[in-house]
Order: sequence, then structure tokens, then C-alpha cells
Amino acid sequence: MTRRELRIGVGIIGAGEIAGAHMRGYLQAADHARVTAIADVDPLRAQRFAASAGGAEVFADYKQMIDSPLVDAVDICLPHHLHRDAIVAAAAAGKHILCEKPLCVTLEEAEAVKHAVTSAGITLMCAHNQLFLPTVATARQMIRDGKLGKVYAARTTDIFRLTIDPERLGWRARRATSGGGELIDTGYHPTYLLLNLIDSAPVKVVAFVSRHRMAMLEGEDTANVLVEFADGTVGTIVTSWAYEPPSCTERFSVAGESGSLWSDGRALYYKPAGSEQVTVQAAGAETDTYALEVVDFIDCLREARRPLNTEAEGIKVLEVILGAYESAERGEIVELKNP
Ligand SMILES: NC(=O)c1ccc[n+]([C@@H]2O[C@H](COP(=O)([O-])OP(=O)(O)OC[C@H]3O[C@@H](n4cnc5c(N)ncnc54)[C@H](O)[C@@H]3O)[C@@H](O)[C@H]2O)c1
Repeated sequence: MTRRELRIGVGIIGAGEIAGAHMRGYLQAADHARVTAIADVDPLRAQRFAASAGGAEVFADYKQMIDSPLVDAVDICLPHHLHRDAIVAAAAAGKHILCEKPLCVTLEEAEAVKHAVTSAGITLMCAHNQLFLPTVATARQMIRDGKLGKVYAARTTDIFRLTIDPERLGWRARRATSGGGELIDTGYHPTYLLLNLIDSAPVKVVAFVSRHRMAMLEGEDTANVLVEFADGTVGTIVTSWAYEPPSCTERFSVAGESGSLWSDGRALYYKPAGSEQVTVQAAGAETDTYALEVVDFIDCLREARRPLNTEAEGIKVLEVILGAYESAERGEIVELKNP
């Protein structure tokens, strides 16, 4: 067998905006993987990427693509309401899965995903790209090494002013296809980031969701969420498409009894209690977290390694987000189930 034949064949499902970012990762992983197929209901979209993938086969029906021997793994880049069915179909065919966020949109769907992945014994990696920011792994390790002592509070943010032609919002504007509004979309990032940093299970959630500016959305354009963890840590998630964040807004910060750390996403700072702040990691060149995530997915398959976030973490993130929606609707604190 030649080296070429040993490469993992990947089929991309949904050739829209994010598929282009994933393509950069497959080009970086070209020694070990190749995009062999692309499926989209709009074949012109699929063809756009087929050439840059070196002549990938184009499918209009992703189920046919999944059955193709060209495909060892799929990369799901579909609108949110279609994730569950694509995961279940790919798992049933024994194909590994990289799935864009959110994993799916309801807890019933999450059950179906868990069952499909577990019974097929395939690997599912959640495309939680911000975990590949270089400061995140360092901060997580510092927290686990006890540099902050007992952790009291953490804050994660993802805020930007989204200016887009309302027509182009498409499926994102409707609850039935997006699963909610900004929180289940961009807000997924600060939610998985918070759960990744804090070494404890989320137990309660309370939230306000608002539509400040984007009247074309059925759901919210902004969410403020508080999460209480089993160890007493209180997490805050602030996320919005409505406004430009004040320039002092951190990407994440964590504070505890003996110190705090914070990051704008590129550099990481640490302040031991009572001492001066030090730079732990200086800002380097901008990181292509999408490419790193794809390269790691391929490495996980090659090394039979567990991805940083599988369906287990994806479901926890979804539980917090759906709990936040329930809290905002009922005006109450919602207790999360932690089986
Ligand atoms: N990690 C990030 O920062 C990030 C950024 C953008 C999007 N995303 C996620 O990526 C996913 C896709 O978002 P997008 O912005 O690329 O959307 P998009 O609308 O640009 O692309 C979706 C594609 O899916 C295709 N499609 C729809 N129904 C289909 C079907 N039944 N079979 C095959 N193809 C079908 C559409 O024709 C379109 O080309 C979402 O889950 C979104 O949340 C993540």
C-alpha cells in the first residue's frame, strides 16, 4: 500500500462558511488525511471546495457520501437542526465524526447522539476551536496545578457587533433551525471554554437573554449567564452580537484565593495575590484555531486518542445553554442534572 492510500479519507457535509476554515486544516494535515468527498444540497457550493481538495467527489445527498468507501470520517458543517441526523447516520455507517457546534439542539437529540456514538464505537470530536487558543491549555493547567488556590470565580466572553444583511442570516435567524439565538451559536464558545477551565461540574444556571439590536432574529442577540459549579465556583458567560465590547473585555479570567489569571485570547497574565502581575505567555502571531482543531482530529484518529471534547463534553455544554434558556424564560434558577 502506498503512503497516499494510508491517508484518512474525509467527507465534508455542508460546504458553507465554516467548511472553508476546516479546509485549511485538511491542507495542513495533508500527509495523513485528504478531503475525498464533499456533500451539499447546493452542488455549486460543494464544487467550490472540491478543486482545492484536489478533486474531491461531490454529492448532493450526504447519506450517499457517508456510504462511500472514499470516506473514513465525516466533518459536519451543517445548520444546527441537521447535526443530530448526520451524526446518527455517520455513526451507523461506522464513520468517525468531527461536528461543528452545537452538537445538537435538544436533550432528546443529545440522547440519540450519545446512543449512536457509543453503540458504534466511533470517535466523535466536538469542533470547539477556541480550546486551541494557545493560552487556554496553559491556563487550565495552572488552575489544576493550584496556582490560584481554591477557585472562586471565572468569566468567559465572546462579544462582537455582527453586521450582516438580514437575508444572509438565513437559518441562523430562526429558532427551529438554529435552536435558539446568539447563545446557542457564538455563545457556545464561552460556554465550553468555561467548562474546560473549571475543574468541577456545573450544577445551577441563571440567565438573562436580550434582543438589543437585531430585530430580524427570532431569538436573542445577547446573553448574560451565571453558572454555579459543584465546588462553589461561580462562572459568568457574557456573549453578544449586539455591540462592540469595551476594549478592556477579557476573553477569559479566573480568580481564586491565591491569585488570578486572565487572557485576551492571545496573551496570558497571572497575578499572585498581593504581588505584581506577570506575563505567562506573550501574544504571538494570530492562531488559526480551526486548522489546529482539524489537525488534532486527524491526530486523534491516527493515535486512537480521545479528543479534548467528545460528545460527553458537547452534551454538558448543551445542558448549560438549554438550562440558561429555561432560566430566562421562567425567571428562575435552573438546577442541572449531573448523572
Ligand atoms: N466555530 C466557529 O467559529 C463557527 C463559525 C461559523 C459557523 N460555525 C458552525 O458551522 C456550522 C455551519 O455554519 P456555516 O456558517 O458554515 O453555515 P452556512 O449556512 O454558511 O453553511 C451551511 C451549508 O450547509 C448546506 N446544507 C444545508 N442543508 C443541507 C443538507 N441537508 N445536506 C447537505 N448540505 C446542506 C448549505 O447549502 C450550506 O452550504 C454551524 O454549526 C455553525 O454554528 C462555527
